[in-house]
Amino acid sequence: MVRRLKQRFEKKFDEEIRFFKGMMQGPKTVGAIAPTSSITARRMASVVNPHSSLPVLELGPGTGVITKAILACGVRPENLVSIEYSEDFYDHLVQTYPGVNFIHGDAFDLQKTLGPRADQMFDSVISAVPLLNFPMSERIRMLEALLDRLPPGRPVMQISYGAVSPIIAKPESYHIQHFDFVMRNIPPAQLWIYRRG
Ligand SMILES: C[S@@+](CC[C@H](N)C(=O)[O-])C[C@H]1O[C@@H](n2cnc3c(N)ncnc32)[C@H](O)[C@@H]1O
Repeated sequence: MVRRLKQRFEKKFDEEIRFFKGMMQGPKTVGAIAPTSSITARRMASVVNPHSSLPVLELGPGTGVITKAILACGVRPENLVSIEYSEDFYDHLVQTYPGVNFIHGDAFDLQKTLGPRADQMFDSVISAVPLLNFPMSERIRMLEALLDRLPPGRPVMQISYGAVSPIIAKPESYHIQHFDFVMRNIPPAQLWIYRRG
């Protein structure tokens, strides 16, 4: 019991150090001061449909807290595609979550990054990419490219730390839903859902 607790503590500490290193190397691309909490990760992952025949797409997995929550929902590793920009995070993810389709690349350039999966449809998208660090035109362009790859009604889930949606309204193209506000996250997190249809 004590050994298990010690191992869990060490793993968590290791994740935090890894996150801190990532933040020092690329504060703009990491865009947060601590890893996502497991509570937030579970809330974000709660919208996936593990029974769908379509894979789930994750963006900006970082240390893998949300990856873990998606898998815990019953999504099989081979049914998860996950795009990470940082090489250090990517290398660690590949070792930690065998079977998941990690791609080292840019979520803002989906066509290139998805490569042979560029025309793949997905069940849902779970994103921790720090949108606020990118211009609004790029955020909208990325969201629309994501929604083009989802069946109508299925969600793009996005974490953010501001009071308003990180992507402005465009009712002719998509709807915005404020999904949750999670206090037990550093800093407290806002969860947003974008859908079509
Ligand atoms: C806020 S952190 C994610 C935190 C993660 N949920 C965790 O707990 O470790 C944002 C992540 O998005 C990644 N990222 C930033 N820009 C990206 C891009 N254009 N494409 C893919 N990933 C990106 C960063 O490298 C980082 O891992």
